[in-house]
Amino acid sequence: MRPEEILDPSFAPECREALERFGVLVFPQIGLSDEQQVVFSSRLGEVAPQGMPKADGSRDLVFKVTLDPKKNEAAEYLKGTIYWHIDGATDDVPAKATLLSGRRLSPTGGQTEFCNIYAAYDDLPEEERRSCESLRVVHSLEAANRLTTRNPTDEQLAIWRRRGSSKEHPLVWRHRSGRKSLVLGATVERILGLSDEQSHALVEKLTAHSTRREIVYSHEWQVGDLVVWDNCGTMHRVIPYDAASGRMMHRTTLHGDEAIA
Ligand code: OGA
Ligand code: MN
Repeated sequence: MRPEEILDPSFAPECREALERFGVLVFPQIGLSDEQQVVFSSRLGEVAPQGMPKADGSRDLVFKVTLDPKKNEAAEYLKGTIYWHIDGATDDVPAKATLLSGRRLSPTGGQTEFCNIYAAYDDLPEEERRSCESLRVVHSLEAANRLTTRNPTDEQLAIWRRRGSSKEHPLVWRHRSGRKSLVLGATVERILGLSDEQSHALVEKLTAHSTRREIVYSHEWQVGDLVVWDNCGTMHRVIPYDAASGRMMHRTTLHGDEAIA
C-alpha cells in the first residue's frame, strides 16, 4: 500500500478490525514520515505521549527505539525488549496498540517477534484453562529490569521502585469482546498462592506454550516497514542486536481503553 491509501480515513475501520482479528499488521516499505505515522496512529486511536517531558513541558508523540543512549535516554531500559512482553503491562490499562517504523536496521538480529496470546489460551487443554482462570499474577517493572540488570545497586532499585509500583492482574484476561488471553511476559514477578518454585515452573511452562513457533510471527525488517500490533492480543520481543548497530525504530503508542480483568 501507499501512504495516501493508509492515511485515507475510510481505511481506519477496516484496519482496526483486521488488527483485532490478526493481531499484527505489516505495511511493507510504506515509508511513512513521523507526521504521517502520527496521523495514521490517530485514526486508529488516541496517541499516547512518550518519554520525558521537554523544557516546555510537552512530550513527544514519536519515541525513538534505539539502544544508543545518545539518541534516547531510555536506551538502557529498552535492553529489556529482548524478553517477551506486553507494552504497559504494569499500568492499569496497557497500551491498545503499538506502531513501529523501521528507520535503520541492524545487520544481524533485530527481528521483532509476536505471539498470539488468544491462541495461547485457546490451545490449552480444558482442565488447564480452568485452573489458570482462578490465578492472579503480580507484575512489576522491577521483575523486568532484573532480567537485564542482575545485580542492581540500591540506587537502581530505588529508581525502579519509584517509577512504578507492582500491579496484580488475572492470568487470564477476559476481554470485553468475549475472547480470553493469557497475560504473561517479562514483568511477571510471581503467581499468587504458589510457592516460588511452583510459580516459576508454571510461568516457564505457559510462556513456552504461548511462544511456540506455530503461533509466532517473526518480522524480518526492511527500511520503511510499518508494523502495527494489537498489544492486548499479542506479546512481542526483539531478537538481540548489537547496541552499536545504529538500529532505529520510530514508535507511536495508542492509549488503552480496557483494563486487564
Ligand atoms: C518496543 C519494543 C521491539 C523492537 O518498542 O516496545 O518492544 O523490535 N520494540 O524494537
Ligand atoms: Mn515493547
